[in-house]
Amino acid sequence: MLPELPAYPATRLRRLRRTPALRRLVQDVAVRPSDLVLPMFVREGVDAPVPIESMPGVVQHTPDSLRKAAAEAVAAGVGGLMLFGVPASKDATGSGGDDPDGILNVALRALRAEVGDDTVIMGDLCLDEFTDHGHCGVLAADGSVDNDATLRRYASMAVAQAEAGAHLLGTSGMMDGQVGVVRAALDAAGHPDIGILGYAPKYASAFYGPFREAVNSALTGDRKSYQQDPTRTVAEALAEVALDVAEGADLVMVKPALPYLDVLRAVADASPVPVAAYQISGEYSMVEAAAARGWIDREGAIVETLTAIKRAGASVILSYWAAEAGALL
Ligand code: PBG
Repeated sequence: MLPELPAYPATRLRRLRRTPALRRLVQDVAVRPSDLVLPMFVREGVDAPVPIESMPGVVQHTPDSLRKAAAEAVAAGVGGLMLFGVPASKDATGSGGDDPDGILNVALRALRAEVGDDTVIMGDLCLDEFTDHGHCGVLAADGSVDNDATLRRYASMAVAQAEAGAHLLGTSGMMDGQVGVVRAALDAAGHPDIGILGYAPKYASAFYGPFREAVNSALTGDRKSYQQDPTRTVAEALAEVALDVAEGADLVMVKPALPYLDVLRAVADASPVPVAAYQISGEYSMVEAAAARGWIDREGAIVETLTAIKRAGASVILSYWAAEAGALL
C-alpha cells in the first residue's frame, strides 16, 4: 500500500525551469568570452601549420599563421593568448628558451606587433619544450631535475619573454621558489610591470598526454618528482598558492581543471589574487574524440565544462576552445 500523497508537493523547483525565459532570468553563472584564454603553439622551421593528431582542430602554427589566428581570436573576444614554442632543435639546458632568436621569443614579438595591448599576451615560462630530455628543468648528475639550477634558467627566460613583449608569464615548471626568482629577475631587468601567472596547484596528470605531441616532447617517464600527487589533500594545494602569492604571483592557476574542481573551489575561496584554471589538452581531446564518434554533443559539452569550471570559482579559463566558445556562449 502506498502512503497517502499530499494534494500537491509543497516545493516545486520545476517552476523556474519551465521556459527558456524563466531559466535565463535566474541564470547564475555565465562564462564571458573575455574570461577565456587561447593556448597556441608555434613551431620553428615549418612553412605550413602542422595538425596535432591527438588534438583535432589544434595546430602547430607558423609565425604567419599564428599572427592570423591570434587576430581572429582577438576579434572573437578572447581575454588572452598563451603561447608555447616548439623549437627545431632541443638541448640539455633548453637554450632555445632564453635565446632572443628562439622560436617562442620571436613569436611573442610578432604577436605583440600584431595585437599590441588589445589582448593579454602570455608566455609559457618552462623548459620542457626546449630540453632534449623533455623535463621542465636542467638535470643533476643523478638524473633528477635540479631545482636551483633550473631557477637560474627561468630567471633568464623570464627576462627574454618580457623583452619580447609578453604581458604575463606563466610559471608552469613546478620548481620551488620559481615565482620569487622570476619576480626578482624581472624587477632587476627593469620590467616591474610584467605580471606572473603562478601555476600554483599543478598535478602530475595523465591528461597532459596530447600536449606531448603538441610540443614534440622528448619526455620519457613522468613529472611526479616535481608536480603534485593527486592523492594529496587540498591543504597542499593551498600551501602552493600561499607561497606563490607571497613570492609575488599576480594570478594563480589550478591545473588540470575538470578533475580538480574541488581544488579550484578551495583555491578560489582562499586566494587574494584572481584564480585561473587550465582546461588542458586531455580534457579537450576526450570531448573531441567522443564527439567525433557521435557519442556526445560537442557544443553542449564545451559550454557545460566551461560553466562547471567557472562555477567552481575560476575568473579566467585557459581552453583550446576559447576562440570558438566566444560564439557559443
Ligand atoms: C609545461 C606545461 C605543460 C602544459 C602547460 N605547460 C605540460 C606539462 O606540465 O607536462 C600542459 C598543457 C596541456 O596539457 O594542455 N610547459
